[in-house]
Amino acid sequence: MVRSKLSYYYSRISDLRFGRTLSLVWSIEPGKTVVVILLVVAETTLLFVSLYALKMLVDVVSNFELESLEYRKRIVEQVILAGSASVLHGIVNSFSAYFSDLQSTIISEKIDDRIHRHTVGLDMAFYENPEYFNTLKLAKEAGGSRPNAIIMGLINVISGMLKISATAMIIVTIDWRLLPALLAFILPMLAVRIYFSEKQNSLRVRNTPLERQASYFGQLITSEVSAKEIRSYSLGGYFKEKYFRIRTRLVAERLRISLQSTLSEAGLGSLISLSFFVCIYFIAMGAIEGRVTPGDIAIFLLMFPMFFGYLQGLMGSITTVYSNNIYVKYIFDLFDLKSELPETEHPLPIPYADRGSGSLSLENLTFRYPHAEEVVLKDISLVVPQGKVVALVGLNGSGKSTLIKLIARLYDPDSGSVKLNGVDIVNFKLEEYRKQIGIVFQDFYKYNVTVAENISLGDIGRQRHDEADIVYAAEQAGAHQFIEQFGSKYDTMMGRVFEGGREISIGQWQKLATARAFYSPAQFFILDEATSALDARSEHDLFASLKANLGNRGALVISHRYSTVKHADYIYVLSNGEIVQEGTCQELTMREGVFTSIFQNDVLLDENEI
Ligand SMILES: Nc1ncnc2c1ncn2[C@@H]1O[C@H](COP(=O)(O)OP(=O)(O)OP(=O)(O)O)[C@@H](O)[C@H]1O
Ligand SMILES: [Mg+2]
Repeated sequence: MVRSKLSYYYSRISDLRFGRTLSLVWSIEPGKTVVVILLVVAETTLLFVSLYALKMLVDVVSNFELESLEYRKRIVEQVILAGSASVLHGIVNSFSAYFSDLQSTIISEKIDDRIHRHTVGLDMAFYENPEYFNTLKLAKEAGGSRPNAIIMGLINVISGMLKISATAMIIVTIDWRLLPALLAFILPMLAVRIYFSEKQNSLRVRNTPLERQASYFGQLITSEVSAKEIRSYSLGGYFKEKYFRIRTRLVAERLRISLQSTLSEAGLGSLISLSFFVCIYFIAMGAIEGRVTPGDIAIFLLMFPMFFGYLQGLMGSITTVYSNNIYVKYIFDLFDLKSELPETEHPLPIPYADRGSGSLSLENLTFRYPHAEEVVLKDISLVVPQGKVVALVGLNGSGKSTLIKLIARLYDPDSGSVKLNGVDIVNFKLEEYRKQIGIVFQDFYKYNVTVAENISLGDIGRQRHDEADIVYAAEQAGAHQFIEQFGSKYDTMMGRVFEGGREISIGQWQKLATARAFYSPAQFFILDEATSALDARSEHDLFASLKANLGNRGALVISHRYSTVKHADYIYVLSNGEIVQEGTCQELTMREGVFTSIFQNDVLLDENEI
């Protein structure tokens, strides 16, 4: 039984990541960490000196045998020593608090930054896995402040132990039997505190998926994105109820443990009183037997509350170390996640082909999403030559957007390859390769920044953002006209999140996203349903402009609209993850197949027009 308890505490202690936490904090702020440790040591030493001098003073006062002059001199010396040590202790204490605050602020910010940097570097596959969201949530909650809290907690544990030793030593000089009496009460207190701290932490981890669900429903009720539907379908009450039910469960569990912990604390409080009276018993017996002086009794009455004050502090520090440790584990778990898209160690330079000879191509590509059963793309081969507009058509769910994600190298195929100008894209530095592809995703993002910034995000690495280039990209995408009508033109803030922001229509947002792609230094443009919200005139103008300005670049266009598809130089038809037809629009309209079944009515209409 005792052994199993011991191994339990041993496993808890070995679960703490002190070494790694220390090296993380050390790698960020070695200088300040040393200063903080030195200040804590100085603070504890000064406290000890001041207490010891106080005890000496009491000894002197209770020693009546000294000559009167000597007696006074010794008292003055001890008072000066105790007083100056106490004053210094106060000063060092304040500086120590300041440096701890400074150190933890800097470290929190830097670890937060590392968490963000690491998250951005992870590939899309992680977003397929709910486990990842749990880890991310816990790591984000740790918010960078936890590693330092652990180090500070550890420093406080050591300093608390030193302070307890200092006061205990003084108490023990009164009567050695007071030590076992005190220890008998300290150890159960420690065990109970660790037990409940551990219990609260494991509850928190276990309930993270539920907490994520609750915050999801909470967000549905409050966010702008869902506001319209929530109101028009009167869903507010429904989701509020769901949120409330989960929160009630979470809170009830937490309060149950809190109550158990409070009851134990009440028990511990009685232990403290008990220990006080046990000690008083020993002291009283000592006084009767002539071993204990009135000075000893005075020093005990002074030291005992201090001793328990420090003991409480030590327990608090241990709890801090424990509860922060669980979060730090998730920061390290997050840092340990590695992108599964292997970056080549010897990247090839991006190839640029002469006019007409370059292409973006897919060769025998097969793909299944991570954690999914079904193969989404099967043996796909297609070519997007320079200077041409190629269309990809297919019913919903046939795999078009998935194919785009593979071209963007958000995932790697299970077999086959994507090639840029004949070279497999796995040979390029990922960031360099992605610059060659300007994509407008089907679910593009609406950035709440200015118009100019919205467009310049297409080439964030550009040394100087030239306004003429931004305007040119906007003109090509058909966005320039509506931007010109804004009071602040290209400096107008988009969206309603920030003051002075301006909301625009879906089609206008789409034009802005397209301008962003056109601003990029891409060799190939990929438009996934990028014209779905555009009016017929805008769509016509955009393709006319795309074709006229394509030059050495190529374009892959996904659309459900015949009016878009018929402008393409070549068309691939995707069905259930396979290319089932390919050819020019004219060729495909003449053959019975998936293409004619998709565009049945449009083709007929077109023929009638002819
Ligand atoms: N992240 C994902 N994980 C697992 N399966 C996915 C994921 N995204 C899409 N799928 C599945 O892959 C298939 C192809 O989806 P995809 O989004 O590529 O279709 P699509 O042709 O772009 O359709 P749409 O015309 O509706 O845009 C679908 O069966 C879909 O259920
Ligand atoms: Mg799609």
